[in-house]
Amino acid sequence: MARSPPTGTRGYLAAVNSARQPADDLVDITDLILTEHDAFRRGFAALDKVLGPDVEPSQHARRLSEVWLPLAAHLERHAAAEEEVVFPALLRFGNNAEHETLDAVGDHNDIRDAVREAAQHPAGSPDWWKAVDRARAENSHHMTEEEDEALPDLRRHTTREQRLEIGLAFLSAMARLRDRPPTGNTDPREFLARHRQRGSAEPLRRS
Ligand SMILES: [Fe+2]
Ligand SMILES: [Fe+2]
Repeated sequence: MARSPPTGTRGYLAAVNSARQPADDLVDITDLILTEHDAFRRGFAALDKVLGPDVEPSQHARRLSEVWLPLAAHLERHAAAEEEVVFPALLRFGNNAEHETLDAVGDHNDIRDAVREAAQHPAGSPDWWKAVDRARAENSHHMTEEEDEALPDLRRHTTREQRLEIGLAFLSAMARLRDRPPTGNTDPREFLARHRQRGSAEPLRRS
């Protein structure tokens, strides 16, 4: 007799697990970026939880800083690693890469501006929240564009092996950028011109 599928929480977990991919696909660049984006959504959600009625208001500033500072650093590192690895790869393989790259680098700058603004104010103050909410909105808009445009473009024009190679280069850049201070904004047009000049023969950097 066929076993009936599990229901309730077990059924939900079984469905989630069945959607899992082979272990080595975890470094497919397009999957890595989705995982990173999920961490950002959860980071902003963790800020909301600090304001819940179970947290003493006297603890807010400290707890908000504890969540925000690593999140802000991660946002910068992610953008820098994408600019180092993902957008050059997209320009090499993608179909609509120039438009997607200009748009994304401009978005990265908008997020950086909001992160820098937050650093000017005490955590939890109205001006701090205004800047953090702006970073969240800019980042949400940006992640949706990457997920709906740049990543599909990359998936549709690269092999699995190429996506794994780009993923390893991305991980390597993330590790290298771990202790580097933010370098400031990137000029989107200068970025595009620089990578156009390098052409499609440039090997992926993985140091
Ligand atoms: Fe990005
Ligand atoms: Fe991203």
